[in-house]
Amino acid sequence: MEILKIADVFGDLPELETPRLLLRKLKPEDASDMFEYASDPEVARDVTWEAHRTMEDSLGFLNYVVQKYARKETSEWGLVLKESGKLVGTCGFVWWRPEHAKAEFGYALSRKYWGRGLMTEAAAAVIAFAFGKMKLHRLEARCITTNAGSEKVMLKNGMKYEGLLRDVVYEKGGFKSLKVYSILAPEFRA
Ligand SMILES: CC(C)(COP(=O)(O)OP(=O)(O)OC[C@H]1O[C@@H](n2cnc3c(N)ncnc32)[C@H](O)[C@@H]1OP(=O)(O)O)[C@@H](O)C(=O)NCCC(=O)NCCS
Repeated sequence: MEILKIADVFGDLPELETPRLLLRKLKPEDASDMFEYASDPEVARDVTWEAHRTMEDSLGFLNYVVQKYARKETSEWGLVLKESGKLVGTCGFVWWRPEHAKAEFGYALSRKYWGRGLMTEAAAAVIAFAFGKMKLHRLEARCITTNAGSEKVMLKNGMKYEGLLRDVVYEKGGFKSLKVYSILAPEFRA
C-alpha cells in the first residue's frame, strides 16, 4: 500500500464544486457568516463544539483553521452557496491516518438551509476527494444517537452503520453515545 504524506494533499487544499456549492478554504472574513449559524444552539446541539457566543469565537475558529492550512495539516472546507456567495457551513476531515489509509470527516450547516440535500451534496464531494486524492481505504463518520439528519447524510452517501460507542464522550452536561458509520474504497467504487 502506498502511504501518502498529509502535507502533499493538504498543502494546498483545492476547491471542490457541487451543483449548488463551492467548497473553498475558510478565511477570517467568513467570521460574520459563520457567527450567524454557529451561534445557533440548535446547530451546536449534537456537535463537539459549543455554540459561538461572540464573533470573536468564530474568528478564533477561523484563525485556527487558517493555521492548519499553513501547517499543511488535515483540515476542512467552507461551504459557499454559489447563488449568493454566502458561507453556510463547513465539511472536512477530523483526522487522517495515512498508514492505515483511514480518516474521519464531519460537517455542520446553517439551520436556514437544512433539509434541502445540501450536506448530502457536500459530503459526496468530500467522500470522492477521500477515495481519490487521499487514496483512503476506509472513511468513517460518527454522530450522536439523536442526530437523525446527520445519520441520513451518511446513509444517503452509501455509508454503513457499524455500531454504537456507548457513553463514549462527556459533552454538554452528559455522557453521549456515538453511532459509527463507514464506507470502504471498494464500496465507493461499486
Ligand atoms: C446534520 C446536517 C449537516 C444535515 O444537513 P442537511 O443539508 O439538512 O442534510 P440533507 O438535507 O442533505 O439530508 C438530511 C436528511 O435528513 C432528514 N432529517 C433532517 N433532520 C431530521 C430529523 N431530526 N429527523 C429525521 N430526519 C431528519 C432530512 O429530511 C433529509 O432527508 P431527505 O433527504 O430524505 O429529505 C445539519 O442538520 C446540521 O448541520 N446539523 C447541525 C450540525 C451537526 O449536527 N453536524 C453533524 C455532526 S455529526
